[in-house]
Amino acid sequence: MQIIESPADLQLAALALRSAGETIALVPTMGNLHEGHLSLVRTARAMATRVIVSDFVNPTQFGPNEDYAAYPRTFEADCALLEREGADIVFHPSPEAMYPDGTSVSLIETSLSKHLCGASRPGHFNGVCTVVAKLFLLAQPHIAVFGQKDAQQLRVLRRMVRDLNFPIQVVGAPIVREPDGLAMSSRNQYLTPAQRLEAPALHRALEACSTAFASGERSVAALRKRILGILSASAPSGVPDYVTLADDETLVPLDDADTVSRPVLAALAVRFGTTRLIDNTELRP
Ligand code: PAF
Repeated sequence: MQIIESPADLQLAALALRSAGETIALVPTMGNLHEGHLSLVRTARAMATRVIVSDFVNPTQFGPNEDYAAYPRTFEADCALLEREGADIVFHPSPEAMYPDGTSVSLIETSLSKHLCGASRPGHFNGVCTVVAKLFLLAQPHIAVFGQKDAQQLRVLRRMVRDLNFPIQVVGAPIVREPDGLAMSSRNQYLTPAQRLEAPALHRALEACSTAFASGERSVAALRKRILGILSASAPSGVPDYVTLADDETLVPLDDADTVSRPVLAALAVRFGTTRLIDNTELRP
């Protein structure tokens, strides 16, 4: 497994792989890898002959009061896991190499990112689009794999690929969960033991919503009420940032007076102290 730090070196290596007829799958990560990331690597492995994993905590997607400085950096441990999973290249640039002094060009997404997480994280998805576009240009992938846990990110990036004509297939991989249902996330380790006990309620609440939907409930108000009821009963210290049923394509939130008649993303974000957890499920009539 090759470790590459220089953006120019990654681009040369990727172009050489392409010339040799290899297919490249890229798995963009911010490191601190867990089983969720490794499942993305396995998906990538199954779909391409070469796998490039980027391990880069991207400063431009963190807001001024977010956890950029504190975000866990565990590069050595990440490499050991990636080696075991058969990754071919790990790209680990410095922030200065990715954003040289005087950087003045970036991407802006103006529609999908207004809603859900974007509403409370202004600029976040612009930072994600910019870094992922740069990673696409450096790693030259045929395929890029992202987790469905970051449902809004996945939709924003699919839109970016469509709007900017990147010749890349974006693959969404299923959410990987702890045995008690909590979606795996690097931020779970910030939870106190008491918060950790409450956190699986996010998934239980979404499951209750899916069950009600499967039994024919179509009222947005009633479906949201199921979610909020379980959150307040089982995660009393969690403060919901949003609990939203949104159009699956545009991410425009449905109104409580609406009924579900087209594919919907049921998504939520809950704060436990300073830790913000997200989860989601798709509802297809
Ligand atoms: O999902 C993430 O970890 C990040 O947003 C990504 C896609 C690696 C971009 O920094």
